[in-house]
Amino acid sequence: MHLSERDSQVIWHPYTQHQNHPGAIPIARGEGALLFDENGHAYIDAVSSWWVNLHGHGHPYIAEKIYRQALMLEQVIFTHFTHEPAVRLAERLLGILPGNLSKIFYSDNGSTAVEVALKMAIQYWQNQGMGERKKILAFDNAYHGDTVGAMSVSGRSLFTRAFKDLLFDVVFIETPTGLNANKIKSVLDAHRGQIAAFIYEPLLQAAGGMRIYEAGPMDELLKSIHQENILCIADEVLTGFGRTGPLFASEQLQYPAQIICLSKGLTGGAMALGVTACSKKIFETFLSPGHEKTFFHGHSFTANPLACSAALASLDLLEEKTCRDKIQFIHKQHEQFCKNELSITGRGLFDNIRVIGTILAFEIKLGESGYANRISNLVMQKALEKGIYLRPLGNTVYLLPPYCISPEQIRKLYDFILSIPVFIETGGL
Ligand SMILES: Cc1ncc(COP(=O)(O)O)c(C=O)c1O
Repeated sequence: MHLSERDSQVIWHPYTQHQNHPGAIPIARGEGALLFDENGHAYIDAVSSWWVNLHGHGHPYIAEKIYRQALMLEQVIFTHFTHEPAVRLAERLLGILPGNLSKIFYSDNGSTAVEVALKMAIQYWQNQGMGERKKILAFDNAYHGDTVGAMSVSGRSLFTRAFKDLLFDVVFIETPTGLNANKIKSVLDAHRGQIAAFIYEPLLQAAGGMRIYEAGPMDELLKSIHQENILCIADEVLTGFGRTGPLFASEQLQYPAQIICLSKGLTGGAMALGVTACSKKIFETFLSPGHEKTFFHGHSFTANPLACSAALASLDLLEEKTCRDKIQFIHKQHEQFCKNELSITGRGLFDNIRVIGTILAFEIKLGESGYANRISNLVMQKALEKGIYLRPLGNTVYLLPPYCISPEQIRKLYDFILSIPVFIETGGL
C-alpha cells in the first residue's frame, strides 16, 4: 500500500480536517531549502517546516553534531545530572539574549516554554507573599501555543473555541498603535497591582496573521508596564534567531524582558527543544530551605543532549557572517520585490503588503478575513503544483523561508505569488 494511504489509516495530523484532506505527501528527504517526495519531486520549503528551519534540511554540520552526541549520551534525567551540551548552550544563550538574564530552564517545544514562563511568573509573586498578583496581560490576536495555559494567553479564536470554558481569564489589550494608548492605560489602571506578567510576541504576531506592530508605541507601553513592576515575558519562539532581522526581535525594543521563551529555530529546526530564560531576581525568589518555594515543573526530555547539541551547532552556523548576510539578503530581496513588483501586480487584490526581516506577508482581499478563509487551500494547491510548499493563514499569504534559500529559489516564490491574481481570475475559485 502507498505510504499516503497507510498514513491515512493510522495517522491523525495536526491542524488538519481529515474529512476533506487530499492525503499527506510522503517526504523522503530534505536538502537545503528543498523537500523531496518519494518520486523525487522537489518542493521549496517556503515556511521553513512550520517556522523551525534556519540553515536548511539535512544540514551535514548539525547532523554530524547530533550523531557524535548520540554516540556519547543520548538522554539523561536532568534533575540530579547535568551534561556539557546543556551547560554550554545555556552559557552561550545567556551571552546573546537581550537584557540581563541569568538562568536557563529547558523544556521541549514552544508551548512548554510558554507554560514554564507563565508558571514561573505566577509563582514568583506567590513566593514573595504577593499572591494577589495573579492575572496575566496579553495581546488580542496573540498566539502562544496549544497547551491549555498557552491557549489561555492566546487571543480567543477558532483555535481555542472548543476550550473556552477551560481557559483561565486573561486581561487582553490591543497591540499599541500610538492612537490607543489611553484605551490601554484604562485597562491597566483597572487591574493595577493584580497583574503578574505581560506576555507578548515582540513586534510580530505570527500565527495571529503575521501582524507587525511598531517598536515606538510598544516601548511606551513597556515603560508603563515596567513602572508597575509587571514581569515581561517575551515570546521569541518564532522571532528568535534572526527571523525579524536582528538575532532577537526584543533587541529592537528599549525595555528588556525578565523572561524570554525560545524554541523553533533554537536547534536550527533539527530537534525539539524549548528554553525559558529568566533573570537572577526571578530565580532567587524560588530559593527556600525546604520545598516550599521549589518550581515543580519538568519534562522527561528536559535538556535532551541531542537537542542541545543541535542547538549549539545551529548557533555556530548563525554566528558565521555568511548567515547574517543571507538574512540581510532575503530582507532586501523581499523589500525590493514588494516595492517594484508585488504592490503593482497585486493592486486591488492584495492588501497590507509588509516585510519584517526574512518574512513577507500580505492579505488576499477575497471573502472573510481570517484562518477559515478557504483561499488558503487554493493557494496551497497551486503552489504544490509549482513545486512550492506554502501554507497561508486563511487569506494571509506569507513567505518565511530558511536562510539558505538561493536567489533562484526566492525568485521562484515571487513568480508564484505574482501568478496568484491570474489563477484567481481564471476561475480557480
Ligand atoms: C510565538 C509562538 N509561541 C509559541 C508557539 C508554540 O510553539 P510549539 O508549536 O513548538 O508548541 C508558537 C508556534 O507557532 C509561536 O509562534
